[in-house]
Amino acid sequence: MIEFQNVSKTYPNGTHALNNVSLRIDKGEFVFIVGASGAGKSTFLKLIMHEETPTSGEIVINGNKLSKLKRRDIPYLRRHMGIVFQDFRLIEKMTVFDNVAFAMRAVGESTATIKKRVPYVLDLVGLKDKMKNKPSELSGGEQQRVSLARALVNNPEIIVADEPTGNVDPELSHEIIELLNEINSMGTTVLVVTHEHELVREFNQRVITIDKGRVISDNRGSRRYSGYETEDYGDEDYSLSYSEYEEDMDLTDDELTDDYSGYAYDDDEPDNPDVVVVPDDQA
Ligand SMILES: Nc1ncnc2c1ncn2[C@@H]1O[C@H](COP(=O)(O)OP(=O)(O)OP(=O)(O)O)[C@@H](O)[C@H]1O
Ligand SMILES: [Mg+2]
Repeated sequence: MIEFQNVSKTYPNGTHALNNVSLRIDKGEFVFIVGASGAGKSTFLKLIMHEETPTSGEIVINGNKLSKLKRRDIPYLRRHMGIVFQDFRLIEKMTVFDNVAFAMRAVGESTATIKKRVPYVLDLVGLKDKMKNKPSELSGGEQQRVSLARALVNNPEIIVADEPTGNVDPELSHEIIELLNEINSMGTTVLVVTHEHELVREFNQRVITIDKGRVISDNRGSRRYSGYETEDYGDEDYSLSYSEYEEDMDLTDDELTDDYSGYAYDDDEPDNPDVVVVPDDQA
């Protein structure tokens, strides 16, 4: 559950990005966030992921007041979130595979699990044949899908996606929202910023409209979420779903045994602390 209580955000340069926002998003909801450029959508998401802090007001996530969160608790908060950044934030030195695998390594998944799960998730976003490429060798839409794969890979409780459809054609946009919708139907809370009004209409989910830092409408779509409060998507549950699909995937032995360990975890990598959350006990 995510709750905003009279939240305002003014950036240090004086820009009022959010103004007295109060709302509640329940576990298992699917929410579109729409509004003009500069309205405050990314700021809204950054406050949820604790990349920015409110100037006033309180944000409560799963019962925890973010204002009370200690620095060392932030990785644990983000562990439960899959984040698709508007600017991708991929690690240039790493292959597509490793960019996604890194998120799994950070939460301590085994190599065997990673080798199975990463190709599967890359296939879900249509990028299985780009696993060995570097981000610079991909189109904008492809990089965006790597970012989406990385967000999905640990089965997070909440997915926060900032314009995951911003760089892809209409057909792919549709598929991406469809995929998020499917993930949502398994209980994951999904927040998506998008400018694709047609998709918003089609999917008929809750739509929060932000204008000049204020929530000017909050319409519950008719496709009501059925409530997942009783299900346990508990703390350390990174169980992998989609197993049926995995079996269908038909990886060659080579693909399964390929050594993707070209990347060594060095400490000079990466300047990307918001993506790569190394648990405290490994830091
Ligand atoms: N780090 C920052 N410092 C100062 N002002 C900022 C910062 N980030 C965003 N802003 C300003 O805050 C306002 C809201 O920005 P935000 O990025 O939340 O908009 P947005 O709705 O995501 O827009 P877009 O659709 O273009 O991504 C804008 O006026 C923007 O210029
Ligand atoms: Mg934005």
